[in-house]
Amino acid sequence: MLGVDDLPRLYSDFAEWWPLLSAPEDYAEEVGAYLRLLRGAADGGLRSALELGSGGGNNAHHYAGSLELTLVDRSPQMLAVSRELNPQCEHLPGDMRDLRLGRTFDAVLVHDAVSYLRSEDDLRAAMATAFEHCRPGGVALLTPDHLRETFAPSTSHGGHDGEGRGLRYLEWRYDPEPDDTLITVDMAYLLRVREHVEAVHDRHLHGLFARATWLRLLAEVGFEPQALTYRLASMPDALEAFVGRRPA
Ligand SMILES: C[S@@+](CC[C@H](N)C(=O)[O-])C[C@H]1O[C@@H](n2cnc3c(N)ncnc32)[C@H](O)[C@@H]1O
Repeated sequence: MLGVDDLPRLYSDFAEWWPLLSAPEDYAEEVGAYLRLLRGAADGGLRSALELGSGGGNNAHHYAGSLELTLVDRSPQMLAVSRELNPQCEHLPGDMRDLRLGRTFDAVLVHDAVSYLRSEDDLRAAMATAFEHCRPGGVALLTPDHLRETFAPSTSHGGHDGEGRGLRYLEWRYDPEPDDTLITVDMAYLLRVREHVEAVHDRHLHGLFARATWLRLLAEVGFEPQALTYRLASMPDALEAFVGRRPA
């Protein structure tokens, strides 16, 4: 069994709460934007895709109408959540830093899970995995939560209700040590079952890298790299994504 000891408890003990923290319907618009970026960058058709760090499968749920998906995550509990939402997709346990399936896909997708890579070595290793699984002319799309140049401390909150239960969270992002490649994301969850409420603190450590680092590492593993911007109606500023095209 894969170890998830260094992952936040959200992805192990509390994984079954994931759909109430982050609901699948909230991902439709961004997946539409990602599909446009992928189609603009790939040579040839896009039919198959591998998602690394696919989590609860919220993105996959929206990609699934357009792409045949293989979903990989380190957490068996998150894979179980995703299997329920996306029973038609292939689900496999694995770590994006060393996964080798021995086959290629038209696209490799790495969404917010890439934020859990904390060192340049880990980021390069995940990019090498993406390269190995990308067909010539295919593309990798990486969409980190933050970039060194644009990171600003923030707080946000949210949550959803289910049958007889609900979750609300507070998320607090800050950078205690600006000279390293880490930021801290402290999360507080209130988990309610009928009238019983449990409060949990869960610390997430995310990597923070400059745009030039992303582009350099993508080139080092063999991709033709690009930084692209896209917009979402819910966000005031343009967002940035990285695309690597594997030379044909
Ligand atoms: C925020 S969740 C991803 C949610 C996903 N974007 C969705 O649409 O549901 C982050 C996921 O990254 C996974 N993860 C973190 N590091 C990983 C690694 N090195 N390899 C594979 N999965 C990883 C965690 O287990 C967790 O499921």
